[in-house]
Amino acid sequence: MSRLVIEGGHPLHGSIPIHGAKNAVLPILAATVLCSNGVSIIENCPELKDVAITIEILKELGAKVARSGSTLTIDARGRLGSRIPERLMRELRSSVIFMGAIVARKHKAKISMPGGCELGPRPIDLHIKALEGLGCSIKEQKGYLHIDAHKLHATQLTLDFPSVGATENIMLASCLSEGVTVVENVAQEPEIVDLANFLNAMGAKIRGAGSPRLEIEGVRRLFGTSYRIMPDRIAAVTYLCCGAVTGGSITLTEVIPAHIETALSVLSECGCQIETTENSIRLQAPARLRAPALIKTTPYPGFPTDAQSLFLALLCTTEGTGKIQEQIFKSRFKPVSELIKMGAVITVENDTAVITGVPALSGTKVFARDLRGGAALVIAGLGATGITEVENVCYIDRGYEKLEENLTRLGAVIQRKE
Ligand code: UD1
Repeated sequence: MSRLVIEGGHPLHGSIPIHGAKNAVLPILAATVLCSNGVSIIENCPELKDVAITIEILKELGAKVARSGSTLTIDARGRLGSRIPERLMRELRSSVIFMGAIVARKHKAKISMPGGCELGPRPIDLHIKALEGLGCSIKEQKGYLHIDAHKLHATQLTLDFPSVGATENIMLASCLSEGVTVVENVAQEPEIVDLANFLNAMGAKIRGAGSPRLEIEGVRRLFGTSYRIMPDRIAAVTYLCCGAVTGGSITLTEVIPAHIETALSVLSECGCQIETTENSIRLQAPARLRAPALIKTTPYPGFPTDAQSLFLALLCTTEGTGKIQEQIFKSRFKPVSELIKMGAVITVENDTAVITGVPALSGTKVFARDLRGGAALVIAGLGATGITEVENVCYIDRGYEKLEENLTRLGAVIQRKE
């Protein structure tokens, strides 16, 4: 098992580019299954464990996938399968997105229940209800979902909650069915817009992405296209927090500041000076940050749950007391016990963490238990005194490309050890 060894206390300086977004590339790769005419060329694909598993799923279905640098070419023209084995579904929760893509292409699918990071109950009832609304008949048998989609049709739906994954599944499942599907209360995340843009580039007719109402007009076929994945907004927030916790001054390029406005405004509230252009962010942090007002996670355009753990780490050493309310995923306070080992003063009651800032954390051995919680421990380690060892780097590798290389480039002292 790999671990990251971090010598804290070095202010970060310099500039790095942000890689393509994990949460955009995964559904877009699943969407390539819909392309029966021509090949899909996807640029800016980060080299991440979750992307590697998604490629394995594509290959298992019968697609040909080739990587050249950060560009993936997917040829899904041949005869494709409709079954994803449990081994691959278990590795990755977002594999559930293949459900919509496979039913649209094959009119049937057999997949096991999905896995992924342990963030408390992660049901897929909204996905199932939506697919049933589109005419699918779904049965669960021995841990597998058997989906019959021969009667897939356009419809009108309202989601009970704006689930990102369910919204993506609806777009994928309905873009080849006859008529216009209208869905209310959908997720508005930038990754939804990226998926809609990709599908539209292939010939789909999806309107309203980025708003709470989607209209999907079915087309007969989708065609090969080239598409560049949007920058990873959560990786961007992670590096900004690394800069902020060390009192540093860093610039991110190849980033879209408009995607992370809520996080940027919290960083400003903490005392950071932030300057943005259309595709860059410069952050200059004060010697000591101050605690912001209550942070509440909500669906986009609110404060992202994926950035919650990152700010939890940041707030450990701010001046004053901060509060974070997690409203999306119940088990997203996993780094709390590890941060406490480093000297943090945090209490959690129900969905709210109260963090009383201390002057500094002290390095020690800590364990990542999920992706963003792992990144939070790296942030804490960079700001701490002494050496922090972050175990279970495999979680962090799910979402960050060249993390230690990028941080080293910014002046951090960090090493991966096997
Ligand atoms: C996606 C992101 C994840 C992010 C999350 C919220 C990917 C690969 N992952 O996950 O990083 O944290 O959006 O921004 O894009 N829910 C149900 N029933 C369902 C589906 C969801 O109750 O059928 C609940 C979940 O338990 C959770 C909430 O809805 O409490 C949000 O989940 P959802 O938006 O679906 O997140 P994901 O698509 O899984």
